[in-house]
Amino acid sequence: MSKEIGRREFLKAAVAGAAGLAAAGALGGAAFADEGGEAVKFEGKPKFAGIGSVRSVTEDIVYVGVSDRRIQLFENVYPIPRGVAYNSYVILDEKTALVDTVDRSVTGQFFENLTAVLDGRELDYLIVNHMEPDHSSAISEVLVRYPNAKVVCTMAASLILNQFFACDISDRGIFVREGDTLNLGRHTLTFVQAPMVHWPEVMMTFDDVSGVLFSADAFGSFGALNGNLFADEVDFEKDWLPDARRYYCNIVGKYGQQVQAVLAKAGTVPIKILCPTHGPVWRENLGWILEKYSLWSSYTPEENAVMVVYGSVYGGTESAANAVAAMISQKGVADVAVYDVSKTHVSELIGEAFRCSHIVLASITYNMGIFTPMKNFLLDLEAHNLQNRSFALIENGSWSPASGKQMKEILGRLASASFVGDTVTIFSSPSASDHEALAALADAVAASVLAGAELPAEETESAGAEWVCDICGYVYEGDELPEDFKCPICGAGPDRFTKK
Ligand code: FEO
Repeated sequence: MSKEIGRREFLKAAVAGAAGLAAAGALGGAAFADEGGEAVKFEGKPKFAGIGSVRSVTEDIVYVGVSDRRIQLFENVYPIPRGVAYNSYVILDEKTALVDTVDRSVTGQFFENLTAVLDGRELDYLIVNHMEPDHSSAISEVLVRYPNAKVVCTMAASLILNQFFACDISDRGIFVREGDTLNLGRHTLTFVQAPMVHWPEVMMTFDDVSGVLFSADAFGSFGALNGNLFADEVDFEKDWLPDARRYYCNIVGKYGQQVQAVLAKAGTVPIKILCPTHGPVWRENLGWILEKYSLWSSYTPEENAVMVVYGSVYGGTESAANAVAAMISQKGVADVAVYDVSKTHVSELIGEAFRCSHIVLASITYNMGIFTPMKNFLLDLEAHNLQNRSFALIENGSWSPASGKQMKEILGRLASASFVGDTVTIFSSPSASDHEALAALADAVAASVLAGAELPAEETESAGAEWVCDICGYVYEGDELPEDFKCPICGAGPDRFTKK
């Protein structure tokens, strides 16, 4: 161990049990604010205002990341019409540290930011939480510009760095493990392993002075930052949530179990600010985004909602899908969305599949199998490990319909997949008798959705008063709060709840 590195024991206890964590239970011990429960806002004069995309996160933690509005496809796969931000941060203490870098496409603005923030000071440490090149392709240039900077990362990260950029850091690397600490003067950083969130070498870095968790890809989002750095400066739910969900589900969605493990570890440290590598920084309402992550990573539907996805060539299957969607809506389901699988990017469909409880699939038969874009979508659902969903199926074939059986085979491989109603088979275009079958299918789907939606409503009717957690805003419904109650989001006890 390097003499600069210490050890911290508190992370050890919470690593177990990730696989069995329920949605809210995953956050059982989390503490997302200080004892006073106050959100942290740096109210001082922004020292670096007017320098590129620089913004202060706290008194001495500075954002030096850059947004890329030219990129069309993230990872050369995912359309990002709103661009993306590559986030990087500087800690200004007795020693200076840079946390992650940026993609090579934005290094001009990045070094302008970094140079201004360091203001002639040495860079003492470069902390590499994640080695994917959207965060690491500027490392080589950082090491040339700052020859005395030491690189703090996992051993796995150092190997990948060498693979990508022929960058051997054996003479300047500090290789850290779970719970290792690094003192910068006022700040002590603790390193937290987060393998497969999103690559195996990933770690997160926690600063005990500010309560900042530099969370690598976790809690990130597609979308360029537009001057606003903090999630509380934008209408996140309206303008960012779909892209945050699409980002999570497509990039990290497969690794829900590993995300649950990190959420459990996060519960052992008092996080006040989440600084991800993409998208807005979280300093308020952390429980809200953490609960989203808990739902997504446990494959729990976010909404009692229906997505209808159709693959159609000459309109017959599209007509059947439209009819089912209309009839489900007429039965009282408000949240129904219809998608043409040929037109909608599969990453959008994956995001919606993580949101919705029910998925209706309507496919023509093509080359004796599933229509190719639909098959691609289903295989992507399997690749992303989607679980706990209810499916309803419609197949079409002009002479030998086969897509229904084959769709069911793929979906049957998903954990806890269930099927609602009978598969409807149509020949070329829906006949009068097909409409009866489609109506029966719509009835079954609507009944299943509404049955799921009724549960909390019934609980609410009998619940009585509401108790609101002062720290994270979680609401417990009931006349009395049990003496041994613990907030499922932040772990606060009954003394931190206010009766409303
Ligand atoms: Fe944003 Fe996994 O890199």
